[in-house]
Amino acid sequence: MTVHLVGAGPGSPDLLTLRAARLLDSADIVVHDRLIDPGVLALIAPWAEVIDVGKRPGGPADAQERIHQVLVEAAGRAHTVVRLKGGDPFVFGRGGEEAEALRAAGIDVEVVPGISSAIAGPAAVGIPVTMRGYSSGFTVITGHQDPTAEKAIDWEAAARLGTTLVVLMGATRSAVIAERLMAGDLAPDTPVAAVESATTTHQRVHRTTLADMADLTIRPPAVLVIGAVAGLDVTDSGTAARGFDDLITQLATEHGGTQWPN
Ligand SMILES: C[S@@+](CC[C@H](N)C(=O)[O-])C[C@H]1O[C@@H](n2cnc3c(N)ncnc32)[C@H](O)[C@@H]1O
Repeated sequence: MTVHLVGAGPGSPDLLTLRAARLLDSADIVVHDRLIDPGVLALIAPWAEVIDVGKRPGGPADAQERIHQVLVEAAGRAHTVVRLKGGDPFVFGRGGEEAEALRAAGIDVEVVPGISSAIAGPAAVGIPVTMRGYSSGFTVITGHQDPTAEKAIDWEAAARLGTTLVVLMGATRSAVIAERLMAGDLAPDTPVAAVESATTTHQRVHRTTLADMADLTIRPPAVLVIGAVAGLDVTDSGTAARGFDDLITQLATEHGGTQWPN
């Protein structure tokens, strides 16, 4: 028995990997997060058991341990179990902990990487996270640090890295993040882009500066991009997500699954 930790990509079903689509088609049990797009779930074979373990705000404190139990129990009664997680399973997805819990229970684990929103969010609105003359690296940071974490994020040091900063889970903390970065001498006129629901039909981008970032009302899920590249739109993308791939619709139809809404 193997549990496949599968990245579902940032949202749009046609950004799934082929391996992910194949596993969704063959899994006996799929255990998934809350924010997985319905178009991705439509690719699950109709005979599979589907378990939603998405955490809700104010949910039980031991929610993560319960997910481990669900996964171990599922692996005990099925040949192929898919643990479907948004973006990439090892980028702020607690995939590492789940892999460790499964290995401790003697269960094999395979990781299927997914396209992370950390990359797809900026790309969807024409922002290259690195670009000659603008930025020679990018740093991905959580805006919602575990309060019990031993090493607090040093935002002032991050401000001095000189790389593009990509902040996940920072939608409601933009004011404090801007304040800390400016305290680290990042220029107030540094471009900022907040990309909401990247690659989905709800995609929206706000462009501003660090000084004005606090004034944004950002609807999660969102990726904040801070740095010179955030002022670019090299593909002239506008704000709308591109259409979905016909192939994905076709696959869902073959299963008699839910059609992706137009
Ligand atoms: C718990 S983290 C999981 C990240 C995921 N593993 C990944 O690689 O994208 C959830 C955060 O990812 C970001 N996120 C996920 N999907 C997104 C999307 N479609 N558009 C913008 N941000 C997204 C948001 O910052 C959200 O708060």
